[in-house]
Amino acid sequence: MKDRFLARKRAGIPLATLTAADYPTARLLDDAGLDLILVGDSLGMVELGYVDTTEVTLEDMVHHTRAVRRGVSRTPLAADLPFQTYETSAEAVATARTLMQAGAEAVKLEGGRSHLAQIRAVLAAGIPLIGHIGMLPQSVRLEGGYKKKGKTEEQARGLLEDALALDAAGVVALVIEDVVAPVAADISRRVACPTIGIGSGSGCDGQILVTADLIGAFPWFRPPFARARGDVAGEITRAVAGYLAAVRPGADAKTAG
Ligand code: KIV
Repeated sequence: MKDRFLARKRAGIPLATLTAADYPTARLLDDAGLDLILVGDSLGMVELGYVDTTEVTLEDMVHHTRAVRRGVSRTPLAADLPFQTYETSAEAVATARTLMQAGAEAVKLEGGRSHLAQIRAVLAAGIPLIGHIGMLPQSVRLEGGYKKKGKTEEQARGLLEDALALDAAGVVALVIEDVVAPVAADISRRVACPTIGIGSGSGCDGQILVTADLIGAFPWFRPPFARARGDVAGEITRAVAGYLAAVRPGADAKTAG
């Protein structure tokens, strides 16, 4: 995976990547020719109805990684280490191994230099790892909301140092989430590994989106940077309304029982 990603960066061909959490979506994405499918812990919100990703358990991630694995035969597959399952190096390696056994070919965890020991340990265990810096959804409660990063010089410098440290450690790629575009572009130029941006502008070496946002399957919330190119929620609503009208012709569609 690492060599393929590096070759793409050198050739200047952007990496197109998406998340998946269930078998049918995984099969459809696998046929589409993506560069990576991620079982992201965003599934906690868009599949499981949790308030944020801090509620996602390792059991949840294993369950969904197995389902996605069954639908993916050619696209590289990565999975997220969930919140508080990589507090120490030993725990990070154990969690990463569990996700690899569930079918992942790489893992991703959130954090920069603060998590360098865990990142080095996972890589030393022979498990490819994708870094994740910038806005870190697993820190939402700590930070009191989802806040764009890289707005101050100090933040920009810190992000660059995080990126350089993770790159030197040997990460396969680096997700940069919700970082001001010039900062993300600068990081992308300075690291050898490909950067995969989300809400961080077009200067990254690739892009990732939560598939539910892309296809319009989660109408209750979509981050401002995510453009919906489909209306799956609308399709479901229309199909169910059609079904109700067919089964209960003449009755009020909203009549219960
Ligand atoms: O959980 C997730 O889906 C992610 C991506 C959006 C990068 O981490």
